[in-house]
Amino acid sequence: MQPNNFPIGVMDSGVGGLTVVHEIQRQLPNENIVYFGDSKNMPYGNKEPKEIVTLSKKIIRFLESQRVKVILLACNTISSQLEEIIPLTEVPIFDIIYPGCLAALEGKPEKGIGLIATEATVRSNIYSRTLQSLNPDVPFVSNGSKELARLIEENEGDTEKLEKVIRLAIDPILVRKPIQNLILGCTHYPIVSEDIQKLYPQLKLIDPAVKMVSIVKGFLEKNKLLSTNSNPSLNIYTSGQMDSFLPFLDQLDIRNYDLVKK
Ligand code: DGL
Repeated sequence: MQPNNFPIGVMDSGVGGLTVVHEIQRQLPNENIVYFGDSKNMPYGNKEPKEIVTLSKKIIRFLESQRVKVILLACNTISSQLEEIIPLTEVPIFDIIYPGCLAALEGKPEKGIGLIATEATVRSNIYSRTLQSLNPDVPFVSNGSKELARLIEENEGDTEKLEKVIRLAIDPILVRKPIQNLILGCTHYPIVSEDIQKLYPQLKLIDPAVKMVSIVKGFLEKNKLLSTNSNPSLNIYTSGQMDSFLPFLDQLDIRNYDLVKK
């Protein structure tokens, strides 16, 4: 196999990175993909940086064994440890935070940008540092949620509880600033973007995956690494229960996959 037809590696703590897979299939329909979701160990967002890096290292070793040509950190919490993660591999790595900041700054949001993310991502300050370096004049407010990613992953279907947890994440931001753009700074959150939009119709929701994949596409084009496969494979590995992935694959319209417990 030519290196351009090697798969794209995608990693997350659970099902959230499937929102990135959806975007890869939309923007790069010929690419083979290997996905790893560490559902057994999720949520990463309530863990200390050292543990997040140790768990990420194991996933990176697995993706390397699958001969991936690039690795997408389809997890903001893992991306928040980018500096520690880059030295772990020779494979080109893409984080989701820089693209999220670029997307949030589009259209000059003068009233400001908000961020909801896991506690680990918010604590790392990586979004505020990155936004500051791109445009120091835009007001920025963030709030971490302990529960939202896990609630989405567990998929109980309790709408009332979901709305309560969404409000707990977003209301404290709006009390501080009447922001315009809200970054969904955890890859699980776009799964419930309709629920969020219904509660906050005035906000423009930013899913960093869109910009992330367009950056990866530019890299693959530039390095002549675009796949020519007309029937690409999608291998999804999870350390958790395979059944729990099925409703998300369906909701995100992800098809033609092989799902394997790892
Ligand atoms: N999906 C992950 C993110 O983007 C986090 C979920 C978790 O806490 O494990 O941050």
